[in-house]
Order: sequence, then structure tokens, then C-alpha cells
Amino acid sequence: MSFPTDRPRRLRQSPAIRAMVAEHRMGARDLILPMFVKEGLDAPQPISSMPGVVQHSEASLLQAARDALEAGIAGVMLFGIPAVRDAEGSQGVDPQGILNRSIAALRAEFGDSLVIMADLCLDEFTDHGHCGVLREDGAVDNDRTLEIYAAMAVAQAQAGADVVGPSGMMDGQVGVIREALDQAGFQDVIILAYTAKYASAFYGPFRDAVDSQLTGDRRTYQMDAANRREALLELEQDVAEGADIVMVKPAMSYLDILADVAAASPVPVAAYQISGEYSMIEAAAANGWIDRKAAIMESLLSIKRAGATLILTYWALEAAAWIREGDA
Ligand code: PBG
Repeated sequence: MSFPTDRPRRLRQSPAIRAMVAEHRMGARDLILPMFVKEGLDAPQPISSMPGVVQHSEASLLQAARDALEAGIAGVMLFGIPAVRDAEGSQGVDPQGILNRSIAALRAEFGDSLVIMADLCLDEFTDHGHCGVLREDGAVDNDRTLEIYAAMAVAQAQAGADVVGPSGMMDGQVGVIREALDQAGFQDVIILAYTAKYASAFYGPFRDAVDSQLTGDRRTYQMDAANRREALLELEQDVAEGADIVMVKPAMSYLDILADVAAASPVPVAAYQISGEYSMIEAAAANGWIDRKAAIMESLLSIKRAGATLILTYWALEAAAWIREGDA
């Protein structure tokens, strides 16, 4: 009598057998492409800390969205960079602001064939770079920010967003946005809540991507990397307030959080593989230190394995192409 100690190896012996028993598989439909559009550009502008990612002009955004549609990914998440910023982030609410205008342009071009998501936050629109408006003492004013988020949600819905993504980590943001959307007749607009969003050094390159003016940090409103339990409190609150999809962000340094949230969430779970995660792999690959494609696909698979149904990633199009070719 001997134990079948060779059982694991039997299931690893060839690509076909490994594929047969794979518990997780990436699909193009799992992926969402974040895109940046900047007011006043007449050609796409490279982002130096994110090689391969650009700030789009309004024209190049349309072409990139067409590529996304053809790649068969789940959708696009838009970030707008206005020409003018102020203390209240008023361009975020203005229907003619760059983000709202771009949502409308994509909606006009693609109808409902493309799922259009929009970042619902003030940091791209404020001259101080915080996700909310400030009190006189310089602290973020949670409740006054909520009023602006409500107006911004309605503006994005009016422009044609399918999904709004509140990413500012203000307490109560999901409830206020749901109520405002419902009152304005946008019961169908989906809220993708940034539920467990941590204050992270890995957002660094994003600050370049949106020409951020931020000095200081977001530690009074984003979560502390030391905390795990608190993500479940955020989940409970966001679900109670009406979140349709919840998100964990960043992804790779927070896979434990993602697994916790995925286990507890009654709604679909997304994860955001953020700018710093992207740039680290690109930098290592550019140096010849790691196999770029293998590292990208392994990173995405790890996020999926931890429990994400949807992944926001700057590699969405490339990964979708690899998946389609069947050689991912
Ligand atoms: C806030 C927002 C940020 C990101 C997405 N939405 C920046 C922040 O919170 O500091 C980061 C995305 C990335 O790093 O790729 N509007």
C-alpha cells in the first residue's frame, strides 16, 4: 500500500492537462481599461512614468475606445484632466467639463455597445489636488464634498455614463450618490464603489498621469495599509448604501483584502491594478529583469484568483489580445 504522492505531477504534465484542471482563467470580459483624456491636447501625450500609457486628446480617446470595444473587454474607465482647476473642482460638475464632454462623445459614438465608466472624484479637478473640498483649516470637508459628488454623479449620468466610480473615500458617498441619481431619474446608473481604497505609494505614476497638484497625502480619508478588518466595515457600509459593485485598490499588495472582500461580498467585486503596479513591471521588463508578458499575465491571474470578477488594468487591451490568441 503506497500513497499516491505523484498525484500533483500527473495533473501538471502537459499544457492541455494543466488547462483542463485550471481553476481560474482570464477572459477579455474580466478586464476594464482606465483611460486619461486631457483638455486642449491635439495629439496623445506619453506619460513618462507609465511607458505605453498616454493622456488622450478628445479625438484619440475615441479611437482608443473603439480599440477597446473591438478587443471585447468589459468596458472603459475615464479620467479627465481639465485645463483649468479651482478650489471646488467645478469642471467636474460642468456638463462642458472635459470628463463629462468625453463621456457624451463616447456615448454618441458607440451607443450602448461600450460600457462607459467614469471616475467620480474631485482630485483631477481641484487646484489643491485633494479628493474633496477643503475647510478653512485645510482639512477635507467630507459633507460638503458629498454635495458636489451628488451633482457630479448626475452630470456624468446626464452625459451618458453607465457606471460611476466614486473613488474619493468620503464617508457616505455611495448613499448620497444613489439618492441623487434616483431623484434625477437615473435609477439605472450603476455605482462601482471604491470600497477598500488604501493610501498607497503605488499611486505615484497616476499623479503624473493626471498632472496632479497634490502636496501632502490622502491619509485622512484613504485606508491605512496596516488595516485588514476595516475593509469589511467599508464593504458593509457601501453595500448598505447601494453599491452595485465594490472595488479593492491597489490590487497586488492587497490580495488578502481582496480575498476577504470577495468572500464576504454579496455583490460583484472589482480590483484596480494601479499605476505603480503597472510601472514596476514595465520597468523591470524594460531592464530585461523579468519576462514582461509572463509577469503581466501572472499578475492578472493572481488578482483573479484572489477573488476579483473584474480587473481594471492598463494592460487590458494587450492582455485581451493575448487571451484571444490563446497563448496567455
Ligand atoms: C482618485 C483616483 C486615484 C486613482 C484612481 N482614482 C488616485 C489617488 O487616489 O491618489 C489611482 C489610479 C492609479 O494609480 O492607477 N481620483
